[in-house]
Amino acid sequence: MSANNLSGYWMPFTANRQFKAAPRMIVEAEGMYFRSSDGRDVLDGTAGLWCSNAGHGNPRIVKAIQTQAATLDYAPPFQMGTPIQFQLANRLVGMAPEGFSQVFYCNSGSEAVETALKIALAYQRARGEGTRTRLIGRERGYHGINFGGISVGGIVGNRAMFGAMLAGVDHLRHTHDPARNLFTKGMPLHGAELADDLERMVALHGAHTIAACIVEPIACSTGVLVPPQGYLERLRAICDRHGIMLIFDEVITGFGRVGAPFAAQRLGVTPDLITMAKGLTNGTVPMGGVLVRSGIYETMCDAAAAGAIELPHGYTYSGHPLACAAAMATLDVYEEDGLFERAAAIEPYWQEAIHTLRDARHVVDIRNLGLIAGIELAPGPHGPGSRGHEIYLRCWEAGVLIRVTGDIIALSPPLIVEKAQIDRIVETVRTMLKDID
Ligand SMILES: Cc1ncc(COP(=O)(O)O)c(C=O)c1O
Repeated sequence: MSANNLSGYWMPFTANRQFKAAPRMIVEAEGMYFRSSDGRDVLDGTAGLWCSNAGHGNPRIVKAIQTQAATLDYAPPFQMGTPIQFQLANRLVGMAPEGFSQVFYCNSGSEAVETALKIALAYQRARGEGTRTRLIGRERGYHGINFGGISVGGIVGNRAMFGAMLAGVDHLRHTHDPARNLFTKGMPLHGAELADDLERMVALHGAHTIAACIVEPIACSTGVLVPPQGYLERLRAICDRHGIMLIFDEVITGFGRVGAPFAAQRLGVTPDLITMAKGLTNGTVPMGGVLVRSGIYETMCDAAAAGAIELPHGYTYSGHPLACAAAMATLDVYEEDGLFERAAAIEPYWQEAIHTLRDARHVVDIRNLGLIAGIELAPGPHGPGSRGHEIYLRCWEAGVLIRVTGDIIALSPPLIVEKAQIDRIVETVRTMLKDID
């Protein structure tokens, strides 16, 4: 393809000029592999973009989408329902931690975050706490790219071009502590006390002004920061003490990525709202959602006048029939193939394999939990991110898709990954690191 016919598409989160000068095209996918336009099979070390948990082209999911498209292509979601939306909602509630009772649909992780923030504000108001309008996020957090998400998010580069953000947002410090936690397998020992930042925000702003605190249980997009032992428990306790809602953004960590339906279950801490997307439909049809803890929906309904809409929020494509069908089939696959259990079973192998890279060239830290790993490299001579980009390109050429954030390699293979494929991912990274400056 020439550069000319690539010009019309303004690609997301892409250095467009650089990409279009040397494009990488994917044209097919099956199981653990992508097929590139030059006919190579590329091993998927990232489940696409943290979403294809069951691998690619699963025939049961494909069939469900095809059948649904032929039966009911679309139904308006406001003041109208279609049975599959309710079936899926009940199923998701059944998978959620105990005490959750509703799900609100949207179309992406970013929309799930906006939805969760709005539910938190509206709920506080409905329960007579309308002064609680502040939202607390965390440094290095990624909550998608809409205005609420980048406001509570803490990735500076995603905010800097876009003005003043939402008012009334503050941030906890991130939990990365290389001085104490380098090369930790699983959850780091040190740093639970960083949750006390929330107490400092209460002291500074007053609890009566704070509606919610949102964190990723494992901060993935920033380069994989695993929560210190005890940290999330402490955050939960502080939220409870002060009437602050706790939101877990589980857009990545949901649906088996950590060997359980949600990280909340794996880590034993229950938030009030859980955002989800990605693995919900195995990445096949865009869909997101927010799981809601019991009492919230009821309070909102009770506060609304008879016949009034209790939450003025929703999208044209909320609960889209194709997305619901894709999600139902995806949940079937997860269940029938035991993929969450599979992820849990292979996690020790994954962990040990990844940590063999400790001695590889340029590696300064390794972090992991579930089927997620972050491998941090020392920045190269051409500035931050250049070494990361080079390793990414080299692995692609060598037939392995990895992901990089700056100089941190982030790995998250589909949950169907075999041990030999884990070995190949690790050995490719090791070999490529040997060759670069
Ligand atoms: C934790 C988290 N929240 C939100 C999002 C945004 O999801 P989307 O890209 O579907 O809008 C992401 C995407 O990676 C994410 O990791």
